[in-house]
Amino acid sequence: MPENHLNNGNPNYKKLNDLYSIQMAKGQLYETIITTKNVNGFEKNLGNLKESDNLKSDDNDTNGSVNAAPIGVLCKNSKQIVLYLYEGTHTVNNIHHHDYFIVNITQNPIIFTKSTLEDLSDEYFEYYHEIPFLKDADAFFVCQVNKIKEITKNNDLGSSKMSIVTADVEEVVQLNSHAIPLNRGIYAVIESLIHYTRIELADNETRTSYWARINEMNRVVKKVGSLQEKEALEEIIKEIKENFKDLN
Ligand SMILES: Cc1cc2nc3c(=O)[nH]c(=O)nc-3n(C[C@H](O)[C@H](O)[C@H](O)COP(=O)(O)O)c2cc1C
Repeated sequence: MPENHLNNGNPNYKKLNDLYSIQMAKGQLYETIITTKNVNGFEKNLGNLKESDNLKSDDNDTNGSVNAAPIGVLCKNSKQIVLYLYEGTHTVNNIHHHDYFIVNITQNPIIFTKSTLEDLSDEYFEYYHEIPFLKDADAFFVCQVNKIKEITKNNDLGSSKMSIVTADVEEVVQLNSHAIPLNRGIYAVIESLIHYTRIELADNETRTSYWARINEMNRVVKKVGSLQEKEALEEIIKEIKENFKDLN
């Protein structure tokens, strides 16, 4: 990793041991923002990525611009993560060409939205060991790519190529002592409970639509939730099935 020139000595930065020190748990999936350096030839703001002829995989091969995108991060253990990246994004191309990237922990809805709908402007970024991160992050960690496996996955969108990236966590930095990684599980439980409390009052058609939403929340919890969140959804569903025999 290149030396860090910019942020040495910043009193707000606290180095932590590993992913467990920012409340990540083994086997759980978190929604994060990944920041990367753009690769030469992958210009931002183009509908289709255009690869230049002379791509090299060394770290000088950057066009100076940076990228941020919301990405799910699976905590494999205290020092390793796994990403499932769809083909065609800046993030996957940048990670294929540069060894290092940063995972930012934030719950800022504007950052999630802006980085999905458009490109974040330069003022959102700072650098740690010359790798971009988000100034507004509550915590971030520096990752080094360990291996990349390419697969074809069949899902709702048909068949798509994906890269499964395993990366080693080199450094974990806390910027805000209340940093909590975002996991969709608890929101799915709360949404389900809200639907549950309304189901009794609803007419048949509305009840069926609440039931469909609860089933969707159950799908989310099965994919990303903790054991407790899975248990919560099971209880909600059991209760509804007992009380409303017409729903299945
Ligand atoms: C909350 C959230 C999580 C996402 N997780 C992933 C993911 O795990 N893998 C992926 O390939 N895309 C994921 N996406 C979609 C990418 O963020 C999206 O394709 C983005 O436009 C890629 O930006 P980029 O081209 O700047 O890399 C996610 C989007 C959101 C909103």
